[in-house]
Amino acid sequence: MRFDGKVLLVTGAGSGIGRAMAVGFAARGGLVAAADVNGGNLATLASELGAAGMVIEADLSLPGSVAAMMDAAMGRFGRIDVLHNNAFGLPATLQRGRLAKVADIVDEVWDYNLQVGLTAVMQATRRVIPIMLAQGGGAIVNTASISGQFGDFGIGAYNAMKAAVINFTKTTAIEYASDNIRCNCICPGMIDTALFRKSMDIPGFTDAALAAVPAGRLGRPEEMANVALFLASDLASYVTGAAVVADGGLTAQTGVPTRFRNG
Ligand SMILES: NC(=O)c1ccc[n+]([C@@H]2O[C@H](COP(=O)([O-])OP(=O)(O)OC[C@H]3O[C@@H](n4cnc5c(N)ncnc54)[C@H](O)[C@@H]3O)[C@@H](O)[C@H]2O)c1
Repeated sequence: MRFDGKVLLVTGAGSGIGRAMAVGFAARGGLVAAADVNGGNLATLASELGAAGMVIEADLSLPGSVAAMMDAAMGRFGRIDVLHNNAFGLPATLQRGRLAKVADIVDEVWDYNLQVGLTAVMQATRRVIPIMLAQGGGAIVNTASISGQFGDFGIGAYNAMKAAVINFTKTTAIEYASDNIRCNCICPGMIDTALFRKSMDIPGFTDAALAAVPAGRLGRPEEMANVALFLASDLASYVTGAAVVADGGLTAQTGVPTRFRNG
């Protein structure tokens, strides 16, 4: 799998899955525009990517940020062959409202979820399509989640946002399939990243979560990037509108956790 001559724009590239995507794409010959709100992490990534990359500091919760990010990538590379909409994470100011049953959902947390996790995805997709049409095609990969396919206790805003990402992926796919633009999403399970580690302070969560995963471990960011890289590549030339689950078997099972049944 090679990406020579291709340009990737990836959001949330400072950490976790987005960072692994940026590094994996560059390692396969591609050029990378890496966007994130975290300037410190971007500086580290910039030195790793070297001439194969540029970094763009962007807070996707702010109006105009998506347009500015895309203008910066186009200004540097003049094309975008792969768009990976991946950024998400609640800022420190909203952490207090992170876990809430439906009756207690905080408006600001709901709005942030939709803005960064969904509206920014739509805005970037809307802007990249004319670019890809002019280039003769392209690939869009969205990071959704198994949380978009099922309910989770206490993160209803996140569940609703990720479900919408899966369905927006499908609509984008069917509307542009005949234009050689493919759109797919990945549905990670529990992946060992900064975002997931925030859940680990819930008493008992980590043990219960790991007991439920047939693979018996968390996923690694690189394992999610590998799926995204495949979907971005020509190897996936007939794959569009797919929501590819990568969760160590978590959602393949019935109610009783596999590892529990096996002792
Ligand atoms: N880790 C998991 O278990 C898991 C499971 C399913 C889906 N996901 C999804 O994977 C994606 C990547 O998350 P991750 O697990 O790699 O977490 P992460 O915290 O390692 O990376 C997320 C990145 O997004 C950036 N970000 C957050 N808010 C932003 C904003 N407003 N503007 C720009 N950048 C912003 C963060 O700075 C961070 O670098 C997210 O969409 C997340 O919902 C993660």
